Amino acid sequence: MRKKVRVFAPASIANMGCGFDVMGLALDEVGDILEMTATDGEGISILNETRVPLPSDIEQNVITRVIRKFFAMTGLQAQIDVRVCQKIYPGSGIGSSAASSAAAAYGMNELFGGPLSEEEVVICAMEGENLASGGYHADNAAPAVMGGIILIRGYEPLDLIQLPVPGNFYCAMVHPGIVVSTKEARQILPKEVPLHDAIRQWGNVGGLVAGLYSGNIGLIGRAMQDYIAEPHRKQFIPGFDELRAKLLDAGAMAMNISGSGPSVFALTDRREIAQKASEILLAHFNGRGIEAETYVVKVSNKGAKLLAQ
Ligand code: HSE
Repeated sequence: MRKKVRVFAPASIANMGCGFDVMGLALDEVGDILEMTATDGEGISILNETRVPLPSDIEQNVITRVIRKFFAMTGLQAQIDVRVCQKIYPGSGIGSSAASSAAAAYGMNELFGGPLSEEEVVICAMEGENLASGGYHADNAAPAVMGGIILIRGYEPLDLIQLPVPGNFYCAMVHPGIVVSTKEARQILPKEVPLHDAIRQWGNVGGLVAGLYSGNIGLIGRAMQDYIAEPHRKQFIPGFDELRAKLLDAGAMAMNISGSGPSVFALTDRREIAQKASEILLAHFNGRGIEAETYVVKVSNKGAKLLAQ
């Protein structure tokens, strides 16, 4: 047996503000590319052809975890050789580990003729997320596999709901040159939530879903306020409150941390405002002596996919 695939999985924004661990969206164009070859035998090799540093011990690479999970789920076995051809920088807050995990899970499923359902591919990818962040969350992995905006209605059992994507939904993203480990950003969160915060949060999650169905960007923006994670995590992002005020003044509907950060995104319904927001985001970090990269992106309706070899 010798079979080869080249697979892409997109970057993603987890949480979407109020949806800690239950909402995420796939981004257009940015993502990871893997080439995976299956031959007779047993074993895993990973060759990193990017400049992005990856763990030298392959047991610490999310791709290895995902391949092992795939074999455990299917009872199959083979020698798998992986070439990492394109990689989102780890720790960026746009689902770097999920993009690798989703690409690996999707690629394995394609190599072996699709024994797993789409939902099982997400479960397989979540194994990589667990290694990277110390938790089984699907809010990056599910959109990276399925595309679009995904609500994880429940984890036990996994219940994934694809939500509509309004056409006029632009995100200005910034990736500042600071490192925030997802593990640490999860560990600092309190294990219990005051009832008044929970009430505000589930009101917002409902509002966000309603806004997505009705295409009401104003409602989406006001519903994205997060009372659970962001108040604890904003300490990692210099000048967070000041930045949010500047962006809202410029016409953005919302500003939130992307996943566990440090990337931050502003939501708008107009490309020109997104462009202006990206300039504000860049100036904010550069003004504090922090290098940053910005992008204006749309939500991608496509998740993991095969590429021509
Ligand atoms: N929901 C996860 C978190 C996403 O916020 O920790 C991590 O990218």
